[in-house]
Amino acid sequence: MSSATMRSEPTFTQKSWASLRTALIGCGLAEPLLRRGLLGLEETRRRLALHHLPAGGRGLEIGPLHCPLPLPPGARARYVDHHTAGELRRLRDDAGAGIVDTDILTDGFTLGCIAAASQDFVVANHVLEHATDALGTLENWLRVLRPGGVLFVAVPIGACCFDRGRAVTTPQHFLDDRRLSASGDSEAMRERNRVHVEEHLDIAAPALARGRGEVWTPLQGEAREREIARLLGADASQVHHHVFTPESFAALLGLLGPAARIERVARSSIEIVGIVSKRS
Ligand SMILES: C[S@@+](CC[C@H](N)C(=O)[O-])C[C@H]1O[C@@H](n2cnc3c(N)ncnc32)[C@H](O)[C@@H]1O
Repeated sequence: MSSATMRSEPTFTQKSWASLRTALIGCGLAEPLLRRGLLGLEETRRRLALHHLPAGGRGLEIGPLHCPLPLPPGARARYVDHHTAGELRRLRDDAGAGIVDTDILTDGFTLGCIAAASQDFVVANHVLEHATDALGTLENWLRVLRPGGVLFVAVPIGACCFDRGRAVTTPQHFLDDRRLSASGDSEAMRERNRVHVEEHLDIAAPALARGRGEVWTPLQGEAREREIARLLGADASQVHHHVFTPESFAALLGLLGPAARIERVARSSIEIVGIVSKRS
């Protein structure tokens, strides 16, 4: 899981609930559990992928890191990242072993090297919140899908991760980001993103440090400005630029308009999964 979803050792209650859930799934109650967001993160992803992704299909998974999505029989994904597996092992020692090899080294937000209408599916779990223009990124993912192709996107629920306390991103904010990004006014976009980076430094970074058992010392003055400049530059995707609830994520998917059909929005304990198909 991503650092947003990384958890400590399960408690006795969590272990007991996991056993009960396995028993309930065995009794054929997976779908009611899923509808109530009680199926668990991995089982929710697995069930939705088996149900919605095409068996035998060919597609892309952006940013799989160490937990690529299980696919239906015969389906194959090429793994996209802007880092090689070697770089990811150095950058993400929290991900442990099992980081998958990057097949396509490119910017997964634009997918500029991928032909339009060439993929049966695109998967991106815990990636979209790092994009400064989330709506534009979704449009890019839709562009590479064939008609009928499927987008499988998971984002963390802000209140259930280190973003707790940050403002939830509104549909108008996504539209304004899209408009500014398309206008090419990079200075105005940078100013806008600065707000996200400041929230990251004030709320998310201290929570992350607490989660690692570290003492957080707030950056001041020039040191803070240098860190802000770094996170607005080459390292912009280290920040969660957007914060979601299930409702706000559904609203963002709705902004894709008639080109996209929302098949399902489901949640598990800490994330929301959206399934969207591209209309013919
Ligand atoms: C938080 S991890 C997600 C890991 C995993 N998919 C999960 O479900 O927890 C984000 C991954 O997306 C990659 N990533 C972030 N921004 C990217 C971009 N613009 N292009 C390609 N990969 C990107 C990161 O390098 C990292 O491997």
